[in-house]
Amino acid sequence: MGIFKDKIDIITGGASGIGRALGEELSRRGALVILVDMNTKLLEEVANSITEAGGRAKAATLDVSDYEVVKKLVDDTMTQYGRLDYIFNNAGIGVAGEARDYSYEDWRKVIDVNLYGVVNGVAAAYPIMVKQDFGHIINTASLAGLLPSAGVISYVASKYAIVGLSNALRVEGADLGVKVSVVCPGLIRTPILNTTKFVKIDREKSLKMAPEAISITPEKCARIILRGVERNKATIVVTLTAKLSWLIQRISPGLVLWMGRQSVKIMRKVVRVDD
Ligand SMILES: NC(=O)c1ccc[n+]([C@@H]2O[C@H](COP(=O)([O-])OP(=O)(O)OC[C@H]3O[C@@H](n4cnc5c(N)ncnc54)[C@H](O)[C@@H]3O)[C@@H](O)[C@H]2O)c1
Repeated sequence: MGIFKDKIDIITGGASGIGRALGEELSRRGALVILVDMNTKLLEEVANSITEAGGRAKAATLDVSDYEVVKKLVDDTMTQYGRLDYIFNNAGIGVAGEARDYSYEDWRKVIDVNLYGVVNGVAAAYPIMVKQDFGHIINTASLAGLLPSAGVISYVASKYAIVGLSNALRVEGADLGVKVSVVCPGLIRTPILNTTKFVKIDREKSLKMAPEAISITPEKCARIILRGVERNKATIVVTLTAKLSWLIQRISPGLVLWMGRQSVKIMRKVVRVDD
């Protein structure tokens, strides 16, 4: 069971995909998991199935972009259990399309959920972890937080910010007993594309283009994340393709920008829907 046994863990976006897989894996390893999501029905199904399998899971329906409710959850957790060991700020959404077609809402919503979801979890949990002198914050960014992926620009903005925030907080927290890691997955087979909004992009054609061969399951992703957490890695990059892409970005950022322009050309030719 290792380091996670009997630990108190909050996981946002815990009803689906990576968050769900993290909750299931952590509960198998003996942690008590508090799953947070907006999707009450799915959240309760996941919490019940963990409990039925012999694990310990609680469900909390809330919107991570609302600081007051996130703070209340963290405070209630402290009151009830007297400690908070891990918070996985993982909930996220996407909007696919070109910046020229985005409404202001397409920028705002993604940044509210993805970036403020993480900021709120950090603002609520970090001072408590400093006070108790231990804790580990794990923020889910993306490969899109390490290289400039065109066609999901508000997502990229939110994920680059999460990478920067996490690295700076890791430096601040190191001598205060708090560990911080950022997770940057490549393609993971979750339902995220089903809930992603497509703006002037053909959803079906676009989904067909997602290369299945380079994606992995959320269960495998969760195990890789937890191995990174055990090793207290600063940046946990998930999937081989993501690791290679990040390497190319560091060796030759100009090449990545050139490749990005080629992918935009393909996007405009194959999946863009004109008026
Ligand atoms: N799937 C991938 O390929 C991939 C790649 C890189 C990064 N990520 C990131 O991983 C994280 C998890 O994504 P996933 O692929 O498991 O997606 P998912 O859609 O399966 O799960 C995301 C969960 O977050 C919840 N959520 C959305 N908005 C919320 C809000 N405001 N408050 C509370 N919960 C909310 C959803 O209800 C959902 O259950 C996200 O941050 C995503 O950006 C995913």
